[in-house]
Amino acid sequence: MVDTGKRNIGAFTGLYPTPFVLCGTYDAEGRANLAALAWAGVCCSAPPALQISLRKSRHTYGSIVSRRAFTVNIPRADDARVADYCGLVSGRTHDKFAEAGLTPVRGEFADAPMVDEFPVCIECRLLHLLEIGSHDLFVGEILACWVRGSCLEPDGSVNPLRVSPIAFAPGDGRYYELGGSVGRAFDIGKSLIKAVEK
Ligand SMILES: Cc1cc2nc3c(=O)[nH]c(=O)nc-3n(C[C@H](O)[C@H](O)[C@H](O)COP(=O)(O)O)c2cc1C
Repeated sequence: MVDTGKRNIGAFTGLYPTPFVLCGTYDAEGRANLAALAWAGVCCSAPPALQISLRKSRHTYGSIVSRRAFTVNIPRADDARVADYCGLVSGRTHDKFAEAGLTPVRGEFADAPMVDEFPVCIECRLLHLLEIGSHDLFVGEILACWVRGSCLEPDGSVNPLRVSPIAFAPGDGRYYELGGSVGRAFDIGKSLIKAVEK
């Protein structure tokens, strides 16, 4: 084999960084709960949809199945401590909203709570549930995406640096923040099209 200078580190979940988000749910007793998730991402444009993956053991798992709804909330880098806390204890025995000092806001479109303090909150209804292995894949149709006004540009687009999301690196198990833009999508490559066409 050609020496590429790379080392195969195995069948590792190396698609990183991943988003780091809190999934909001109401459980069977109607208690608002949050779970920290790193296995998450966008999976469809129309209908707008995202995916999250959960172990069956999570309290959140049964809540989504019974309510067929959940929210995905994006914490800021400054929220890393409280967001991490929501990945350390279970809603079975903890009121994570109260303990983390977060405020639940009932979703307008989905039967799930959002985090008032976080800059972006996405309401979803459960579209599909696929059993995979250690984790099962939940596909949620996005019904609404709430963004704090201070994170919006005058043209209505989201300014990611003002959102200040947290990225998770499965490799070293650390949280990171955004550095800055390296170019405009569907645009920076155009100069190469021109060069190839010459
Ligand atoms: C950085 C980080 C990422 C996590 N990602 C996931 C994930 O993608 N899926 C999952 O099932 N659990 C994940 N967890 C663990 C859950 O957040 C944790 O088990 C939590 O206590 C579940 O809460 P619940 O029992 O109230 O649902 C993660 C935890 C941390 C700290």
